[in-house]
Amino acid sequence: MVKIEIDGIVQEARPDELLIDLIKRCGGSVPHVCYHPQLGPVQTCDTCMVEVNGSLIRACANPAAEGMKVSTKSAKAEAAQVEAFDRILSNHMLYCTVCDNNNGNCTVHNTTKLLAIEHQKIPFQTKPYEVDNTNPFYRYDPDQCILCGRCVEACQNVEVNETLSINWEDPNPRVLWDGGSTIGESSCVSCGHCVTVCPCNALMEKTMLGHAGFLTTLNKSALGGMIEVVKGVEPETGFGSILQVSEAEHAMREHRIRRTKTVCTYCGVGCSFDVWTKDRHILKVAPEHGPANGISTCVKGKFGWGHINSEDRLTTPLIREGGKFRPASWEEALGLVARRLSEIKAKDGADSLAFISSSKCTNEESYLMQKLARAVIGTNNVDNCSRYCQAPATAGLFRTVGYGGDSGSISDIEKADLVIIVGSNTAESHPVIATRVKSSHKLRGQKLIVSDIRENEMARRADLLLHPKPATDLIWLSAVTRYILDNGLAHTTFLKQWVNGLEEYRKSLEPFSMEAAARLTGLSERTLKTVGEMVAEAKSVCILWAMGVTQQSQGSDTSTAISNLLLITGNYMRPGTGSYPLRGHNNVQGASDHGSMPNMLTGYQLVDDPEVRQRFEAGWKVKLPSTKGLDNHQMVEAIHGGKLKAMYVIGEEMSIVDSNANYVGAAFEKLDFFVVQDIFFSHTCQYADVVLPGAPSLEKEGTFTSTERRIQRLYEVLEPLDGCRPDWKIIQDVANQMGAGWHYQHPSEIMDEIASLTPMFAGVNYERLAGYKSVQWPVHADGTDEPLHYTKRFAFPDGKARLFPVSWIGPTDQPNAEFDLHLNNGRLLEHFHEGNLTYRTEGIRQKTPDVFVEVSPELAEERGIQSGTWVQLISRYGQVRVRALVTDRVQGKELYMPMNSIESAVNRLTSSHTDLVTNTPAYKEASVHMKVLAEVGASPLPRINSRFGHPTPQKGVEVERKWKRADYAPPGNGNGLVQLQTKK
Ligand code: SF4
Ligand code: SF4
Ligand code: SF4
Ligand code: FES
Repeated sequence: MVKIEIDGIVQEARPDELLIDLIKRCGGSVPHVCYHPQLGPVQTCDTCMVEVNGSLIRACANPAAEGMKVSTKSAKAEAAQVEAFDRILSNHMLYCTVCDNNNGNCTVHNTTKLLAIEHQKIPFQTKPYEVDNTNPFYRYDPDQCILCGRCVEACQNVEVNETLSINWEDPNPRVLWDGGSTIGESSCVSCGHCVTVCPCNALMEKTMLGHAGFLTTLNKSALGGMIEVVKGVEPETGFGSILQVSEAEHAMREHRIRRTKTVCTYCGVGCSFDVWTKDRHILKVAPEHGPANGISTCVKGKFGWGHINSEDRLTTPLIREGGKFRPASWEEALGLVARRLSEIKAKDGADSLAFISSSKCTNEESYLMQKLARAVIGTNNVDNCSRYCQAPATAGLFRTVGYGGDSGSISDIEKADLVIIVGSNTAESHPVIATRVKSSHKLRGQKLIVSDIRENEMARRADLLLHPKPATDLIWLSAVTRYILDNGLAHTTFLKQWVNGLEEYRKSLEPFSMEAAARLTGLSERTLKTVGEMVAEAKSVCILWAMGVTQQSQGSDTSTAISNLLLITGNYMRPGTGSYPLRGHNNVQGASDHGSMPNMLTGYQLVDDPEVRQRFEAGWKVKLPSTKGLDNHQMVEAIHGGKLKAMYVIGEEMSIVDSNANYVGAAFEKLDFFVVQDIFFSHTCQYADVVLPGAPSLEKEGTFTSTERRIQRLYEVLEPLDGCRPDWKIIQDVANQMGAGWHYQHPSEIMDEIASLTPMFAGVNYERLAGYKSVQWPVHADGTDEPLHYTKRFAFPDGKARLFPVSWIGPTDQPNAEFDLHLNNGRLLEHFHEGNLTYRTEGIRQKTPDVFVEVSPELAEERGIQSGTWVQLISRYGQVRVRALVTDRVQGKELYMPMNSIESAVNRLTSSHTDLVTNTPAYKEASVHMKVLAEVGASPLPRINSRFGHPTPQKGVEVERKWKRADYAPPGNGNGLVQLQTKK
């Protein structure tokens, strides 16, 4: 600690603590505009000038040092602050009363007030640029832009999309997209970082414009008139009274604008944010305090909420009658569900029924769904969609380290010396985690190795890119591990102290010689050795993987090989190390954690463990089934086999997202009774006998668990639409119709029950999760949690990890003479999965209107294909018609098709082959024949998709270029000021 004097009072500070933070921590204040704690010093505004030992310095850019005497209020400091802010104001017209940003958090407004500015010395002059409205979600008004550069810093160094810059050398600097494109045609991915950090109204969400203020709905000319009035009175009244009027208007807004914390409904990163609403209108999503994301979001979390007020929402139960659906009352629908489920149970037994929980729903809802299956029906036939994606990763980690989740936190990934990404399109599927890797890679020297058969954004950024033959990751991982062991590069002390099974494992690696691995993977021996050396040399390694690994017939074994490599090199138990299977859905982790698994109750407690069963039987006061139930793959087979007669599916588009969709649909047609609960009439609803309208995440309370095992609360942003019910209430209604006698009044009571039955969640309760507070499981009774696993021991009885031998078998559904092309598939940035939610956001639909198949330039040339050519893809299981997109993201005879379609769903082409351990479909092992059709349409991706932009990477806002301007002088140096010139 250092001692430092601030305005005459001695304070203690950390030597790296920025003066601006220290002053605030000590209860003082210094004006500032460009500084944002999550961006660090930007140094463009000069408003934070303080006097230190007689000199003026920027408080945002200088850390505390022993003996400093800081004055925030000396005449010299205050003059410099005012002078600097005057320059800021010359770029901005203060019309707060009629501004949609007049919500109490406008930095320009607040700084004007703080500095008691009455009049502007440098008059405002308009800039010679039009407002840019070309992005569907936000607009840029150059006239209001104060050139603080926060947006540039956020885009360049936090999001690292590298779209924004400021042309400091221009007579009229402004923010540029791709160096001068329109926003709409730029590389902007609409993540919203720039809009979130803009301190004024220069960048604003379009959903705010004309909606936030009482007077901002006025048409443009009336608004212009009002602005003129405000400007007109300023010379006489000064800003003080204008600000008072606007503050009165702001106070009125407080009564109608609600700000409610929620957790994102899309991917497993777990971004949380406030949602601003006015009645049912969503004004904006405001991220700031989320423990996983801070100011970060992607386009879906920031702007993808069109589904909430969509006219397509289901608002009444539906009952199938005579081949058609008719609306029904809740009473009738629930009565029918209870009666039919009871009849089928009585006739064919409890195991003739099956239940699928939703990984979009809350932990409490997942818990109730499996309780309904087990305690009310009496079957363990319950599963969730982690079977489609993450079960193999969980299995690989159960085998080797004991817990099935991410071994650390996103902050560990950020810290790692080396990140390896295997089979994960992280920038599109887990965008905010990708920002952390991109940022560490760009700014902090983190190394990045990517293994993928497709050149996604992370692949393009990698220091070392591996393009192995499909389904051969297990081979290169094992060969690299053997190379490390053979060459004395393993972490022997770690192995000795913490790991069992080394000798047996070493023997199992014999087939994985460099020569064999190179032959089978297509990677060179030199490349493989380089990987081995990079892993061995790195001080800390994190491996991230996703469905490119897990959705293969050896997904569990490849996940095991990843964990083996980490163990051999001692990359567990320390910050910045570990295994990170990136969870797909917002609550796919929680759905499994909370017992929607055929063999496990909550917290991975086995159904065939008598002690566990006894505890639940005592808590639930019922007798429970003791044998493992069917997983969702086995359910489909059991329907075809005549054993499964009824199903109840919540929030899962199973008829499209399960592999071999035609086969799944045929199974659903055979069911005697089928209940589907969803917020839209999904494709799966077509097969239902009863459809129940649930509620989306914004319309209910509960908790989600993200990929880093973080349990977070979501609050009710809006009341459920008339006719809909939160899913936990519907499950309770069904249970009670069957005589269960449940009385939950609020999800917190459900969580209390979970905690009482589950050692892993013993200390979870809603008080510990209030607001933005969160915990990462396991959570002990006293509330302590584990952001980083295995700091003291591995999760096995002896505390030691286990090396688990695996061998390579080879993939299914291989290309041959007839089906000659390999078909890969996965997500897109803009759409979540099949797009049931995201297609309801108009801007997303504009940017990414349709599905496509990516074809390599060489294959396109060989087959006479251009972007827009219609092709028929025919596999051993089905066919789809789709337009081609020619791109070098794929190579040779490898195709890629995103999942964002119901009509041309890629799963009409995929097989029923599964991972050998978990029954996860081998979605990524597919081969097709491509028939080129005569028809050529427009490119399936419009020019306004971010892919077609041209980013302009730079170090950040590059304020040094501003300082080099002839008309720039630091404030307070007595030189006077020259206003930045405007073009005539
Ligand atoms: S990518 Fe677009 S929305 Fe995201 S920070 Fe950059 S300019 Fe803003
Ligand atoms: S648009 Fe960018 S540079 Fe302009 S005021 Fe907003 S954050 Fe600052
Ligand atoms: S989709 Fe994922 S990355 Fe995007 S905002 Fe939501 S949680 Fe964050
Ligand atoms: S806040 Fe320090 S220069 Fe802007």
